[in-house]
Parts: sequence; C-alpha cells; structure tokens
Amino acid sequence: MTVLAGKRILLVVSGGIAAYKTLELIRRLRERAASVRCVLTAGGAQFVTPLSLAALSEQKVHSELFSLIEESEMGHIRLSREADLVVVAPASADLLAKMAHGRADDLASTVLLATDKSILVAPAMNVRMWEHAATQANLKTLAERGVRVVGPNEGDMACGEYGMGRMAEADQILAAIEGFFAVDARLSGRRALVTSGPTYEAIDPVRYLANRSSGRQGHAVAQALARLGAETTLVTGPSHLADPAGIEVVHIESAAEMLNACREALPVDVAVCAAAVSDWRVAEVSAQKLKKNGGAPPSLDLVTNPDILASLAGAGNARPRLVIGFAAETENVIEHARSKLEAKGCDWILANDVSPGTGTFGGAENTIHLIDGSGASAWARMTKEAVAEKLAERIADHLETPAGSGGE
Ligand code: CTP
Repeated sequence: MTVLAGKRILLVVSGGIAAYKTLELIRRLRERAASVRCVLTAGGAQFVTPLSLAALSEQKVHSELFSLIEESEMGHIRLSREADLVVVAPASADLLAKMAHGRADDLASTVLLATDKSILVAPAMNVRMWEHAATQANLKTLAERGVRVVGPNEGDMACGEYGMGRMAEADQILAAIEGFFAVDARLSGRRALVTSGPTYEAIDPVRYLANRSSGRQGHAVAQALARLGAETTLVTGPSHLADPAGIEVVHIESAAEMLNACREALPVDVAVCAAAVSDWRVAEVSAQKLKKNGGAPPSLDLVTNPDILASLAGAGNARPRLVIGFAAETENVIEHARSKLEAKGCDWILANDVSPGTGTFGGAENTIHLIDGSGASAWARMTKEAVAEKLAERIADHLETPAGSGGE
C-alpha cells in the first residue's frame, strides 16, 4: 500500500524528447495503484503516440479542445477537476509560458487554467531556453502561484548541448508526487474498515435471499478513506463494481462471513458499515435443491442475522474509536435513524431516505442526514462519491481531535 493508492493523476504531456520518460512514469504510477488520465498536446504527439499513453494508462487519451465527442464524454472542466493532482511532464518552455500568462488555446492549456487542483511541472527544454530570462520569469510567476516544480536536471541534451534542462527522471517525478500526497494524507497511519453491498443468504445450492444494494456508497467510502491515506479494508457482498484501487478487498456472501471478515480486520480506528446486510437467513440451508414435487411451496424458517454494526460498536477493547452506520429508511427518517444510533451503540449514523421514487437504493445519489450524539445535520443531495468524500473529511477532522474530547 502506498500513498498513491487510489489517487487520480491528470497527466499533461507536452512536446519534448523527454516524453519517452513519461511512459515509464505512467507505468510506475499504475504499479502503485494510482489512476492516470492523459492529456496530450499536439507537440507531445510528435514524440509519443496516444496509443502508447492509452495502453499504459488504460484510459482514453484526451487531446482535442473542440471535440464534440470528447466534450460530451468528459468536458474539459470535469477533466480538470476530477483529479487529485495535475502533473505536467514534460513541461515545455511554450506550455510553461502559456500557463504563466493564462492562455487557453488548446486542451492542455485550457485544463491547466480551469483546474482548481495542485499542479506539479517537470520542465524539459534546451539549456538556453531554460536559462532565458523569459522562462525564468515564467517559472517564478508559477511558483508564486503555488505550482510545484521537479527538475530539470543537468546533463547531455538530445540537441548535443550540455547543461540544465533535462527532464527529471521518472523516479524523481514519482517521489515528488508521493511527497505531495504524503503531506496531504490526513489519514495516513490510520486504519479503516468499511462494509459494502448486499449479503446473499443461501436457501439451497441455487437460491438465496438478497436485496438491491449496489455497493456504490460503501465502495466510494472505502476509496475516499484510502485517498486520504487510511489503510483500508473493504468487506463486500456480491457487487458488480470493480474493486477500488489500493484497498484490501475481502469478498464475502453471507452476513456471518461478513462478521468474521470484519472481526479479522480489527483493530481499526474507524469502521463504516454501509452494507445492506440481510436481516434474516434461512435457519437450515438445504444441501439439495428444493423441489416442487407437485406440492405446496416450502415454508422458509428464518432466523435473525448478527448485527455487524452493533457487534463492532460493542467490541470492548477492540472497539474502533469511531463506529459509523447508515440507516436506510422509508419514513420518519431522522427519528428512526436516531433510535438505530442508540440501539446499535454507534457514534454517527448517516440516515438516507430510500423510499421508492428517491432513486437512492441502487442509484447514484444520496440525501444524507448525519446524526451524532449532539444532533442532526442535513446535507444537500449529492452523488454517493461526494457523500463519501465529505464523510472521509469529517472522519479525518474527528480523528485529529484527541480521543475523548467530545462526540465519543
Ligand atoms: N447493519 C449491520 N448488520 C445487520 C443489519 C444492519 O451491520 N445485520 C448495519 C447496516 O450496515 C447499517 C445499519 O446497520 O449501517 C442500519 O441498517 P438498516 O438496514 O438501515 O437497519 P436495520 O438494522 O436492518 O433495521 P431495519 O431493517 O429494521 O430498518
């Protein structure tokens, strides 16, 4: 597990012979479970092909500003915002000048102007261009605006001259990226456990009891916690979602298996139970497929499943410092959620209305009321990923306060 796990890097590749080193950088970032989305300038495309960037990053490469298709798939504003860090490697003298002057005449410069994220540049150019007062002034401007710079190095240049201007090596750029995230990682050194998805309770070898949970909220919470640096275990029931990057994922089916996997993941600092655990299971799973045999349907004898959230909250010495549940309700949302908070002994409950018509269960968005010992706060309707990020920041705020100083 590295600080890069699950991090989203937007990598702008501009023109320069050094672009070949960027291919190695992408490989290293992918090995560390970061996702990489590339923007290639026209100059960059003279040195590396979109195909090699796409193959290594396993994502579509973006290069057109005025492309209806690209804009409808992923607008340039979204492109610039859906990243944790923007890296420009190689950063040509021309692109640095555009950045310093706020020009936006191609996709790369537009994305760099539109982004609200931190930017790291790895300059690469001829030594005279590097030393030129214009380039140095541009770099000074960029540095004053918070742009980070890695390299360049001194050495032989492709043009036959010697001096400063060689792009930093892939491992130097990687170290700069890791350094950025290490400082930023609010939850580094913390351990987190998240449950997600439905559980399947077997009836016989082919049938089971289940529910419509997609796992989207729980998976997003696990990813958001890992992005803040937490060493995260995700215990999930069957889901169509891909395993989030850089997280230990334990796949289970039943509530009993989920409980065991959660116990094994302890100790953790925070546990978030987002799974839609089946409340019941069949008392005795039939070893053979139940047959119609022309008679009456079988009556299923159900027993209550263990409550994983309550069990984590009551885990004595092994209790995570912060235990958080969700409450899926269809009426009296806050009232019912508050009773669940008390009954299960958790610290916070995120209540959501899952009435038919809200589209919450199995959908992309959620409307949350966060309930803790001191009251309830309503969050605006937002995507489950945004809920996850907001929750992760709140968890980080809480864990940064000394244990026992309120809310616990
Ligand atoms: N939960 C759990 N184990 C269970 C049941 C629920 O860990 N066996 C957790 C869920 O992950 C969630 C919280 O408890 O964080 C509340 O789940 P919810 O389905 O809303 O409530 P239930 O406890 O199942 O109660 P009810 O079905 O009566 O609403």
